[in-house]
Amino acid sequence: MNLKSITQEVCTISKEVGIFILEECKKFNVSDIEIKSQNSLVTYVDKTAEKMIVNFLGKLIPESGFIAEEGTSVKKGDVYNWVIDPLDGTTNFIHAIPCYCVSIGLLKNDELIVGVIYEPNRDEMFYAWKNGGAYLNENSISVSKTNKLSDSLLATGFPYYDYRRLEAYMDILKWLMHNSRGVRRIGSAAIDLAYVACGRFEAFYEYSLNPWDVAAGALIVKEAGGSVTDFQGGKNYLFGSEIIASNKYMEAELLDKIKGSF
Ligand code: IPD
Ligand code: CA
Ligand code: CA
Repeated sequence: MNLKSITQEVCTISKEVGIFILEECKKFNVSDIEIKSQNSLVTYVDKTAEKMIVNFLGKLIPESGFIAEEGTSVKKGDVYNWVIDPLDGTTNFIHAIPCYCVSIGLLKNDELIVGVIYEPNRDEMFYAWKNGGAYLNENSISVSKTNKLSDSLLATGFPYYDYRRLEAYMDILKWLMHNSRGVRRIGSAAIDLAYVACGRFEAFYEYSLNPWDVAAGALIVKEAGGSVTDFQGGKNYLFGSEIIASNKYMEAELLDKIKGSF
């Protein structure tokens, strides 16, 4: 399988879907919102976007299966499975905040081999394939070289339904407010990861995530020279719901703090 050309195809469908989402944002109104669970919203735009993606990728690799947020396809592939978030940042989309993206990863058995994140408002395409490096539009990208936490800009996602670990989370946030340049909550985990990959953020951490939030971004960060772990420093970040992604320099200090507090 030629991973570079598969990645290019995934970029093509991501852009098409991104443009569709952008157009729908202009027509969108509140009656289009459905509530899945506490603070978890969905719209016809998420669902239509996912159908467009599944339809395209199902033809690209006919034997592949899908792990897709809106459940458009539940087909499981023996070897290849796409991990899809058709619209990461739905709450931003609904509130017309221009920070959302399409995120598509490809798993070969348990290994991520392709990752694409397209941010339509900025026309930024982040992509990577296994051992091929990471890119933003036409350019190769790498994580930041900043090695001091006090010079670092960090990203996180605030807990919005699982509040059992809120105290521990707030302790870490408080400590980082004192010890870094600042902490951002953009509202799209995939964009947070893409921004670690291209050096805009030094690190990102969040819990209560799903595989489709992080699949593409985790590969892009790794191919950009960064590191990705779960909250224990292990590799269970895809299905384990917790992630720390960083430019490597921040890993030890963040892990130490998070492990000690959670
Ligand atoms: C959400 C975003 C958000 C993160 C949530 C995700 P959605 O995805 O990535 O930044 O904090 O955990 O669920 O619902 O917009 O696809
Ligand atoms: Ca998501
Ligand atoms: Ca989504």
